[in-house]
Amino acid sequence: MISKKLLDAINEQINAEYYSAYLYLSMSAWLEAENLPGFANWMQMQNREETMHATKLYDYILERGGRVQLKAIDAPPTKWDSPLAVFEETLKHERKVTALINDLMNLAIAEKDHPATIFLQWFVSEQVEEESSVETVLQQLKMIQQAPGMVFMMDRELGQRSFTPPADSAD
Ligand SMILES: [Fe+2]
Ligand SMILES: [Fe+2]
Repeated sequence: MISKKLLDAINEQINAEYYSAYLYLSMSAWLEAENLPGFANWMQMQNREETMHATKLYDYILERGGRVQLKAIDAPPTKWDSPLAVFEETLKHERKVTALINDLMNLAIAEKDHPATIFLQWFVSEQVEEESSVETVLQQLKMIQQAPGMVFMMDRELGQRSFTPPADSAD
């Protein structure tokens, strides 16, 4: 049986994942309004990934016989100064989420909950990927600061991103 402390923490993480989904959806709306449909698409895919993360935690709680407790989701910001500001905030946010995941893992270890540590490993690896993909976009945006026309080429490239649920998320 999962401990109450760990259960509460996973329920909190569901909320954090939904907030992430909300934040990226809000960024997508702003980018779309700024005539950057490719950037907006990238954020839509990010939104779907976060929703998938929340669902993965939700399913895990139920699998362990715990109670899911959904909490209120904070309102995200609605405007940014530039696409660069959007991606700077995204990286900052992902780093915060990484810290939350690491805290969750530390708790699972402290509680000697071996199944939970195995389950959470997926999230630990996922955060490495998340930070890395955001950093790539951010670095590219920084490189083209002197050539604003390049934003449209990047927009076309980011429009190619699609959402592929990982094979193990279907169980
Ligand atoms: Fe996430
Ligand atoms: Fe994320």
